[in-house]
Amino acid sequence: MKILILNGSARRGGNTSALVEAFREGAESAGHVVEIANVGCMKINGCLGCEYCHGKGEGKCIQADDMQGLYPKLSSAEMVVIASPVHYWSFSGQLQSCITRWYAPGQPSAKKYALILSSGSEGVYDAIISQYKSILEYFGAEDCGIKTFAGEDQKNATNLDAMRAFGKSMRNA
Ligand SMILES: Cc1cc2nc3c(=O)[nH]c(=O)nc-3n(C[C@H](O)[C@H](O)[C@H](O)COP(=O)(O)O)c2cc1C
Repeated sequence: MKILILNGSARRGGNTSALVEAFREGAESAGHVVEIANVGCMKINGCLGCEYCHGKGEGKCIQADDMQGLYPKLSSAEMVVIASPVHYWSFSGQLQSCITRWYAPGQPSAKKYALILSSGSEGVYDAIISQYKSILEYFGAEDCGIKTFAGEDQKNATNLDAMRAFGKSMRNA
């Protein structure tokens, strides 16, 4: 299965990056083809609400930014993993902008999703999980799991092993 991971962190070598790398290792060991898109380091504007995409644009967004490179990856992925640091009880701004830009093509091809969150404190996930579940309901997509990690020492062997196992557990059908 083709898995696209959207990493919302701008911190190369940070917590989210380490967790998604471990997920990738596990998923690749199970035969999946995995790509990580470092959305947190990209220039992605929020949606303008101009509706060009739903008129003349025929599903294409008018904005010329890094989202244009992501649209083809999103349209060919069979599974999308949304991974983000928690920023003020929400996705990172870059990732939130990326998600709003899914408006242009509409229904994505991926019917499987997973959510990976990294935060400073425990118990800060309600808003993000609620948004994630609403998006999946809207897409008629399957949730393959939600993993959350908090605190100072998130890149420990236990967490990375858990993420490898999580990646390895992804199933095609
Ligand atoms: C701008 C900003 C906002 C944050 N907001 C929260 C928050 O609301 N709740 C929380 O528990 N941690 C918050 N944190 C801490 C990060 O979520 C946490 O350090 C996370 O592990 C960072 O992941 P990263 O290394 O992938 O960037 C925030 C950090 C930053 C920089």
